[in-house]
Amino acid sequence: MPLQGGAVLTELWQNMPFQTLVVFLGLFLLIADCMKRRRPKNFPPGPLPLPFLGHILHVDVKQPHVSIKKLVEKYGNVFSMQFGTVTFVVVNGFQLVKEVLVHQGEHFLDRPQIPLRHEIFGTFGLIFSNGNSWKQERRFALSTLRNFGLGKRSLAERIQEENRYLIDAIEEEKGQPFDPHFKINNAVSNIICSIVFGDRFEYHDNRFQKLLRLLDETLHLEGSFWAQVELYNSFPTLMKWIPGPHKTIFKNWEKLKSFVREAIAKHKEDLNPSETRDFIDSYLKEIAKADANSSFHEEDLLFSTLDLFFAGTETTSTTIRWALLYMAIYPDVQERVQAEIDRVIGQSRQPGMDDRDNMPYTNAVIHEVQRISNIVPLNAPRMSTSDTTLAGFHVPKGTFLIPNLTSVLFDKNEWETPDTFNPEHFLEDGQFRKREAFLPFSAGKRGCLGEQLARTEIFLFFTALLQKFTFQAPKDVKLSLQFRMGITLCPQPYQICALSR
Ligand code: HEM
Ligand SMILES: *[C@@H]1O[C@H](CO)[C@@H](O)[C@H](O)[C@H]1NC(C)=O
Ligand SMILES: *[C@@H]1O[C@H](CO)[C@@H](O)[C@H](O)[C@H]1NC(C)=O
Repeated sequence: MPLQGGAVLTELWQNMPFQTLVVFLGLFLLIADCMKRRRPKNFPPGPLPLPFLGHILHVDVKQPHVSIKKLVEKYGNVFSMQFGTVTFVVVNGFQLVKEVLVHQGEHFLDRPQIPLRHEIFGTFGLIFSNGNSWKQERRFALSTLRNFGLGKRSLAERIQEENRYLIDAIEEEKGQPFDPHFKINNAVSNIICSIVFGDRFEYHDNRFQKLLRLLDETLHLEGSFWAQVELYNSFPTLMKWIPGPHKTIFKNWEKLKSFVREAIAKHKEDLNPSETRDFIDSYLKEIAKADANSSFHEEDLLFSTLDLFFAGTETTSTTIRWALLYMAIYPDVQERVQAEIDRVIGQSRQPGMDDRDNMPYTNAVIHEVQRISNIVPLNAPRMSTSDTTLAGFHVPKGTFLIPNLTSVLFDKNEWETPDTFNPEHFLEDGQFRKREAFLPFSAGKRGCLGEQLARTEIFLFFTALLQKFTFQAPKDVKLSLQFRMGITLCPQPYQICALSR
């Protein structure tokens, strides 16, 4: 019987016209594609994905985080969508996002391997590693950052020193319109650089300025060619052979890696056993005493250093650029901050961290800038480490998740006026008021590792700048709050005037 069946098939095969063959082949691929996409039982719902393409066409390239709004309206706070062969579960609203990040944090500790990222970062370092390796890297980085000043006086001192350089550089502009982007970027980067590389870089250092611009371009490319990036993630093997912006992304990251590699090589040359100058020195010493199980290898050193450098530069500097823009657009808020600075600090000394408790208004303004500028709109992606249940849905181990931070920072159930810049969100009877839904740094065990550092930097840079300058739109210019899509949401390039006070 089987033989006969075989013969019939062969017969059919030989006599089948080409068109029929193509149709059969197409049907076969379609069915295979559908099987692959079949959702597990009780999986979060979502629209029917297009064959082969998933939901790639549902996303507006210019503002992907807004365009999915329709899906939220239809499916509620937990739904699934697909890009190519990858399915993401999106989680919206403060309560559910907190459930994922904190209450069920242990189930969602991992990062998924997304092809573009994986190609660049592998599973090394801090941001893209998982499991034991991530645990070791994170613990080590946190304790080392702390040793080099985090939470101690010396960090504030580093920032105060940098403030003097930054203020001088801005004074050079003599109140004329200028773009503060790369001065602020450089100042902020110098803090993490001094901790990681043991060095700060002059604002006129061409090589470092080039590097900062390269980093900026790369992060912008990754965001602005979102569809491209998604295309790459959907069809990585194919895309490797096709030219496009993703090639520039790879090339740029190679240059950034070389910069870090060089710094590591130099540290190895003049490593002194009796002195630990910075993060790289500590790490090299850790490698020397590591056992077989440890994750302390040079490859991880390279990527952890790179992670700290780019995560520690872009985010904080973007936040400060937003803050100056809001001050120029809301002069009454700026005036109140300056009045508080004058009252609590005066003009004869620099702000310190002890001042923050006495400056509820300034503190509230900083929080509100962070809330409304929403610089990491979709958080970093997570992956479930075990089967679990979320809002009644089954989420199997290995599911990719997007804990949507935009939906938290603008949650209508949490904020009185979510779409308005309103420092009162963080004030009560003139005192600073903490808000649970303030999650720009995400939360839980895998939340931002640099939160403490970033908060210290933002407070000290922001207050020192407003102590010395008043920020204003150039004559006849209307400043815009439009964002530029990238890895972070940052302001469109702008010119501003810094008038000495
Ligand atoms: C305003 C400034 C900053 C914001 C808004 C921010 C935001 C974030 C967010 C949303 C995440 C993802 C967390 C998650 O998956 O739950 C993250 C991760 C991370 N951030 Fe930040 N960040 C900032 C500053 C910094 C700084 C200054 C550093 C440098 C030390 C830093 C280092 C990191 C690292 C290493 C991770 C990965 C943590 C991990 O995977 O375990 N960040 N950040
Ligand atoms: C994230 O939340 C915002 C605000 O609620 C919403 O407009 C957007 O569509 C959400 N994005 C996703 C991917 O669900
Ligand atoms: C490595 O880890 C395994 C499992 O945790 C343990 O059994 C083994 O003793 C460790 N080896 C070393 C050299 O620490």
